[in-house]
Amino acid sequence: MKQLFLTGANRGIGLALVQEALRRNYGVFAGVRHPEHARALQSLARTFSDQLIIVPIDVTDHASIQAAADKVAVKTKSMDLIINNAGIFPRRERLENLKPQTMLQAFHVNSVGPMMVLQQFRRFLKNGSKVLNMSSQLGSITLHMSNHYSYNSSKAALNMLTRIAASELRPAGIVVVAVHPGWVQTDMGGSSAPLRPEESAKGILDLSERLTEADSGEFFTWEGKKHPW
Ligand SMILES: NC(=O)c1ccc[n+]([C@@H]2O[C@H](COP(=O)([O-])OP(=O)(O)OC[C@H]3O[C@@H](n4cnc5c(N)ncnc54)[C@H](OP(=O)(O)O)[C@@H]3O)[C@@H](O)[C@H]2O)c1
Repeated sequence: MKQLFLTGANRGIGLALVQEALRRNYGVFAGVRHPEHARALQSLARTFSDQLIIVPIDVTDHASIQAAADKVAVKTKSMDLIINNAGIFPRRERLENLKPQTMLQAFHVNSVGPMMVLQQFRRFLKNGSKVLNMSSQLGSITLHMSNHYSYNSSKAALNMLTRIAASELRPAGIVVVAVHPGWVQTDMGGSSAPLRPEESAKGILDLSERLTEADSGEFFTWEGKKHPW
């Protein structure tokens, strides 16, 4: 059974990834900030009791990430796939109202968090393991699609961190990529988004299963196409 660990599994794309991975018979370690409020996951965990484990994790809290890795280690020594999915999107930013604290929080969750997770979960990664960092088309400097200072720049930072980690982990046969999940109907994406979370999740898991060492360090769309940096 393939093993998946992901963050931000409580709702949106993260929850859809859990559902799709369960359908594919993965063992799923679903990272959430507040397990006691994760109703949908709790219900899934009752149905898929031999496949799904809910793991408390706040990606801005080093001790919480360490405790999550320790909890996972009780059940498995290796992980086929890690998806750094948790993210936040501060809105309505202009130069005149931009707050350093807001930017720092976005960088903490969207860029530093995934790298701290990778640090603590490195012990589970073996030859052939894959790490997907959930980026965004808004983090593309080439496309420059909007002026969300905190979100776009934190995702651009995540893209560079992906490249660096891919390079460091290449000799160990570990694949690290950045993924744009599409514009998806979630709390973050809003109701006008064209994609349903389950379509995005299916595309992302299809992509993860196709990735080879040659793909490491690249930026992909949920459909598996190369994304402009
Ligand atoms: N939706 C889109 O159109 C779209 C487009 C491009 C990229 N993305 C990226 O895709 C990922 C998932 O997006 P989504 O649309 O599913 O977002 P969402 O519906 O807003 O869900 C975000 C998830 O991240 C979790 N989270 C936030 N801060 C966290 C922290 N400090 N520690 C752990 N978890 C935390 C939230 O937990 P709680 O439930 O506890 O709040 C929630 O489960 C994000 O990285 C986002 O940037 C989304």
